[in-house]
Amino acid sequence: MFYLFPFGKVPKCESIIIYGAGIIGQSYLKQLQVTQFVSSIYLTDKKITSAKKEGIITFIPQNEVLKLPAYPIVVASLKFAEEITQHLLQQGVKANRIVNIDTSHVMEEGQCDPHTFNWNEYYNNAEGHNEVQFHTYLEPLMQKYSFDLSQAVDFACGKGRIADLLSGECQSLICVDTSKDAIRHCAERFKNKKNVECRVSEPEKIPVDSDSVSFLYSWDAMVHFDYRSVDYLLSEFSRILKVGGYAVLHHSNARDHGSFKADKNWRRNPHCRSEFNAEDMRHICSKVGFIAKEQQIVDWGVKELDCISVIKKL
Ligand SMILES: C[S@@+](CC[C@H](N)C(=O)[O-])C[C@H]1O[C@@H](n2cnc3c(N)ncnc32)[C@H](O)[C@@H]1O
Repeated sequence: MFYLFPFGKVPKCESIIIYGAGIIGQSYLKQLQVTQFVSSIYLTDKKITSAKKEGIITFIPQNEVLKLPAYPIVVASLKFAEEITQHLLQQGVKANRIVNIDTSHVMEEGQCDPHTFNWNEYYNNAEGHNEVQFHTYLEPLMQKYSFDLSQAVDFACGKGRIADLLSGECQSLICVDTSKDAIRHCAERFKNKKNVECRVSEPEKIPVDSDSVSFLYSWDAMVHFDYRSVDYLLSEFSRILKVGGYAVLHHSNARDHGSFKADKNWRRNPHCRSEFNAEDMRHICSKVGFIAKEQQIVDWGVKELDCISVIKKL
């Protein structure tokens, strides 16, 4: 669980008192330090018996809280929130100083779909790695299969780092991504390339005409997608690709991995890989009219973590 500090409820102040040093209190300390929200923090808990100072944090026993100036008191407990609040009120603390959280501040860690995740940090870091990834993995496949690049699609293009390298080879390239920001960035990046179009996609629906695409590729995005998403999306790929068209898909090979047990939550796995593998890809292909022509199992920090499938629409 992740406990979000109630930033919106606490008046901006020089100092703050956190009431409770358990998991919630510890999480608050980290958030307050990272955001530099206050210049000093008082932490109190029944287990703290004597005062001590560590950096901006002063640990104080509960009976010393009332000796402090009237800083906001944030109750770092859900279970005992009512009890603590009543206790403070009885001690004469004004109600407007006491801040409680509710369940909206409690988040299941990493519980989000890849299309709702904030990829900004990724976009910034990945940009410098496009050439080496393109030349190592994609280019040899392009040479081997001589894909028809007349109507190509970059699926989940991000900010267009791979499209930038491939756009020169394509007669027409449509870049799609669910992130409006990323697509806005791509539109600006490719504004002088008349053959590139950028479109905002739906998570399971691709805004491209049926039977209109000769080649589709997806790089470093489907590695995070679960079985259900890949299943839906492969139906979409099958809809938009012409018969005989190829797709090159970079996806996870973490399910049934030899060195770890993949979690259903992609964010808990090495390199955030989903619980999916090469066999799953072949299975979905066979249901929606594709044949897997080739599957390259590749290392990605961890041996055999990823797979690049070359699939053909029958
Ligand atoms: C790790 S980034 C990779 C971006 C790009 N392919 C690259 O290599 O730089 C993952 C991208 O997938 C996009 N995405 C996630 N789910 C998607 C979906 N269902 N349909 C389209 N794009 C999606 C995200 O918005 C994000 O831009």
